[in-house]
Amino acid sequence: MEQKREQWGSKIGFILAVVGSAVGLGNIWRYPYLLYSNGGGAFLIPYFVALFTAGIPLVLLEYGFGHKFRGSSPLSFARANKKFEWLGWWPSFSSFIILTYYTMILSWAMNFLTFSFGQSWGVDTDSFFFNDFLRISSGPFDIAGMRWPIFIGITLIWAINWFISYKGVSGGIEKLNKVLLPTLIGIMVIIVVRGVTLPGATLGLNKLFTPDWSKVTELGVWIDAYGQVFFSLSLAMGILITYSSYLPKKSDLNNSAFMTAFANSGFEFLCAIGVFGILGFMATTQGVPIEDVASQSIGLAFVAFPKVFSLMGPLGTVFGVLFFASLVFAGLTSSISLMEAFASAVVDKTGSSRKKIVTITAIVGYLVSVLYATGAGLYFLDIIDNFINSFSIVVVGLLEAIIIGWVVGADKIRKHTNSVSIYRIGKWWEIMVKFVTPAILIYMVGSNIINELSNPYGGGDYPSSALMLLGWGVVGAIIVLAVISSTTKWKKGVLEDIDSEEV
Ligand code: ALA
Repeated sequence: MEQKREQWGSKIGFILAVVGSAVGLGNIWRYPYLLYSNGGGAFLIPYFVALFTAGIPLVLLEYGFGHKFRGSSPLSFARANKKFEWLGWWPSFSSFIILTYYTMILSWAMNFLTFSFGQSWGVDTDSFFFNDFLRISSGPFDIAGMRWPIFIGITLIWAINWFISYKGVSGGIEKLNKVLLPTLIGIMVIIVVRGVTLPGATLGLNKLFTPDWSKVTELGVWIDAYGQVFFSLSLAMGILITYSSYLPKKSDLNNSAFMTAFANSGFEFLCAIGVFGILGFMATTQGVPIEDVASQSIGLAFVAFPKVFSLMGPLGTVFGVLFFASLVFAGLTSSISLMEAFASAVVDKTGSSRKKIVTITAIVGYLVSVLYATGAGLYFLDIIDNFINSFSIVVVGLLEAIIIGWVVGADKIRKHTNSVSIYRIGKWWEIMVKFVTPAILIYMVGSNIINELSNPYGGGDYPSSALMLLGWGVVGAIIVLAVISSTTKWKKGVLEDIDSEEV
């Protein structure tokens, strides 16, 4: 007999957990720059089209699938059709790999949180980050020793991840999100309100929102919009399937899918306003155009923003602490969901206790993460992250839409979600999942492959052996592990035992 499946304590607990998973680094440091560089206000057109033609349909698909088959990603696929169990393992292993470097970024953010108190990054924040803090080596094959502050941060983050997961779905994950998500929203509101009232903020906001309609005709802008919606909504990582499997049988899935998507978009929009208000202040203070200060991801968080905080004087200390705390909180709620997507798959397959599997996962994950605490850590992150985003997540999304849409049956999933929801979704959803989403994703995967082959990642900065090993090699290893895992035996009775749990 299967152990009774864990459940969320409340519907709001589930919503907070999925929004906590969605809201992460992608919202805070990726979306603002994407909106700015892809046509400002005009980018909202491809963004909302992506949200309605792929984002929301796939959130509904994953919720419906996980809830109907009541399992982690591999268990749900195995129950739906044993032939496709490997496709369930693929996102679980991707999540595990993402988790190993996500913890490194959280470690950086934790370190910078402590630096904020004394603004110890000094005047040259670029040199501070790359040379003093990371002590970046000459390339991916030059490990150049351990960076102990990063190592300590990684140890702490893994300890937190382990503790929360160990405590279980309602006792750990739900509680963490109930505390961190409202705190995060509160912090972001403070940053935004103060950010947009800084002198020069309107310069940033005007730049951010001035629509450049010519961008809407560029295909690259549409690919960016779909990529953002995918990563930001935590799609094709096994997370939403797993989280919805912990819902009671009578749960309004349709309503929850729309709420998740809109909450996530609302949060990224808020972040964009805050970030560009602050960048407007920086450009004005330094008398430079906004183009010179706008950047994304690592450059924004660990180089540009520390510089702005220094310009603000004592107010900068408060801003610094709030900003890096927001990165840590947003990242923790996402990292815990990545951990769950992997650990729950192993728990389902082996029938071992959550406590045992979570402990083993944390030890193995931690040992892998330690490799990123070296002088070559940034190179590892950069290559692996690019390949996972371009060739693992999008491909899994495409295969999910095809296999669940055509083989399992989009009609069955729609019937299921409608049977438990107040508002019913119409036939349009099946058309999206079976035709529109796959067509768009085939185009995306195709252009990613052509792009990588004609113009290898890094523009010549990385030797092809590094791209082979850390890029194609890691994605290949994920697929091989997924296939091998799908050939091992399930604990007796688990596959059949779908309706035995109490609701
Ligand atoms: N959805 C998470 C993020 O945006 C993974 O960072």
